[in-house]
Amino acid sequence: MLIAHTIDDLRQALAPYRRPAFVPTMGNLHDGHIALVEQARPLGDVTVASIFVNRLQFLPHEDFDSYPRTWEADCNRLQAAGCDVLFAPREADLYPEPQTFKVQPDPALADMLEGHFRPGFFTGVATVVMKLFACVLGASGGTAVFGKKDYQQLMVIRQMVRQFALPITVVAGETRRAPDGLALSSRNGYLGLQERQEAVALSQALRQLAARWEQQPSSGLELEQQAMDGLRARGWQPDYLTVRRRGDLQPAAAGDAAGSLVVLGAARLGATRLIDNWEF
Ligand code: PAF
Repeated sequence: MLIAHTIDDLRQALAPYRRPAFVPTMGNLHDGHIALVEQARPLGDVTVASIFVNRLQFLPHEDFDSYPRTWEADCNRLQAAGCDVLFAPREADLYPEPQTFKVQPDPALADMLEGHFRPGFFTGVATVVMKLFACVLGASGGTAVFGKKDYQQLMVIRQMVRQFALPITVVAGETRRAPDGLALSSRNGYLGLQERQEAVALSQALRQLAARWEQQPSSGLELEQQAMDGLRARGWQPDYLTVRRRGDLQPAAAGDAAGSLVVLGAARLGATRLIDNWEF
């Protein structure tokens, strides 16, 4: 696996290829990331991953400084997964001057849910992803694979690609889960032992909310409140648990067809904020 730190080195490494398949990450790779790399491999003539902890998508009080950085292990895992090129820019390589020019996602999609609780998050994500796309996929385009675990992020990226007519195919990867059902996430590493046991309650609450919504769609808001109260009673601080339409993430209504909805949730357990979702 070739490792490029600068944009010039990356472009040189990718020059012989026409259709890269790309998996952007912030490192601290787990099986979910590796599954995305494996999914990407047959989709291009070269498989590229990036590792870059993007300051622009963290609020000042969030975990940018303490975000787990596990360089050696990440390189070994990518190499074993058959990744051909790793792009790992330093901050000064990707942001040699302050990144004052930003990509502003559609507020109708990006200011709710995660964007409501993490203002500016999707501007930071869209800006770095646009820049990574320019570095890795360039003018001729290619394929980019994003996990469904970050459901709203995937939708923001899809809309960005569509509206800017980028020559990029965005492919979604299914969420990988631990045997007990907890969605794999780099932030799971922050959980203490007892918290780790409790953490599965978020995915359980989402599935239960989906099942109850299917039976009583007209009581949607009440069911969402009950689901959040249930988590609060177990010591969580939920930001939202809500049933939405998959197409635009607007609130679901009683007439919405089965198979067109997703339940999304974000909640804090101790100091760790977890997100998850479940399509139904
Ligand atoms: O999902 C992530 O890990 C990040 O938001 C991404 C897409 C790599 C942008 O920094």
